[in-house]
Amino acid sequence: MAGLGTRFLPATKATPKEMLPVVDKPAIQYVVEEAAGAGLSDVLLVTSRSKKAIEDHFDRNPELESALEAKGDDARMEATRASDRLADVHSVRQGEAKGLGHAVLCGKGHVGDEPFAVLLGDDLIDERDHLLARMVDVQEQHGGSVVALLEVPRDQVDLYGCAELAPGSAVDQGEEGDVVTITGMVEKPDPADAPSNLAIIGRYVLDPSVFEVLEDTPPGKGGEIQLTDALQTLAGREGPGGGVRGVVFRGRRYDTGDKVEYLKAVIRLASARADLGPDLQPWLKEWVESGFDDSMPTHAPVE
Ligand code: G1P
Repeated sequence: MAGLGTRFLPATKATPKEMLPVVDKPAIQYVVEEAAGAGLSDVLLVTSRSKKAIEDHFDRNPELESALEAKGDDARMEATRASDRLADVHSVRQGEAKGLGHAVLCGKGHVGDEPFAVLLGDDLIDERDHLLARMVDVQEQHGGSVVALLEVPRDQVDLYGCAELAPGSAVDQGEEGDVVTITGMVEKPDPADAPSNLAIIGRYVLDPSVFEVLEDTPPGKGGEIQLTDALQTLAGREGPGGGVRGVVFRGRRYDTGDKVEYLKAVIRLASARADLGPDLQPWLKEWVESGFDDSMPTHAPVE
């Protein structure tokens, strides 16, 4: 997406925000891994002029590969090749930052006439929680479009698209426990007027009819073409391609566009790693128990 990533300046002065490392992989790699893990092997990156590094990351790097090969460094070679082996990755440029709906429309020619998924680069969903695979199942079962929903404190709904549910489709009694029928959606409502505290998070499985709807969707909130507005139209449409359902997510999600959430992602994912957790966890525990004593040494004293 053609956002500027100003929240992470100066880190994002010359580096796209999607390339900021979460432990040792750029955030965008987790998102492509998630798509591949849900069986989606064709990935279209919607990038922009300043985001060439993202395209390069999913391509081969012959110079680096030859250097690693010459050294016989198999482990680093594996790490380098992992990103270009993940999926069949394509890209398209969004020439102007005209909103998420416009970014999705940039994929029209590539997608064709089949349901497809949209994954926003700022949201990291823990792969152990299988959200996207669940959404693909729900779409196959019910047709129409599917969005991921998260219950958030009411005063935070103005950061998100917000869903209105069909009567009787309350979150805790959804048709299958986690699936609800959506009757309306509003982009970043004032908390006082919000239809619920269910926020749309950055995962969508969409019917291709969303493209013709987007073509007719005028700019909305912030003067941008909003995907939420197009989905609002589809929610009210009966027949083929119409209807929107929500999958209520109760797993681990990190908004890497927010600094504190980004740090939580780094800490949680690093401490879950077999190669880093055993060293990181005891240190973290000790530091927390010290009451975050800033003078605590970072290394054990040399005997
Ligand atoms: C976008 C969408 C919004 C959605 C959010 C999820 O907003 O417009 O409906 O809730 O992503 O992260 P953005 O975060 O780009 O402002």
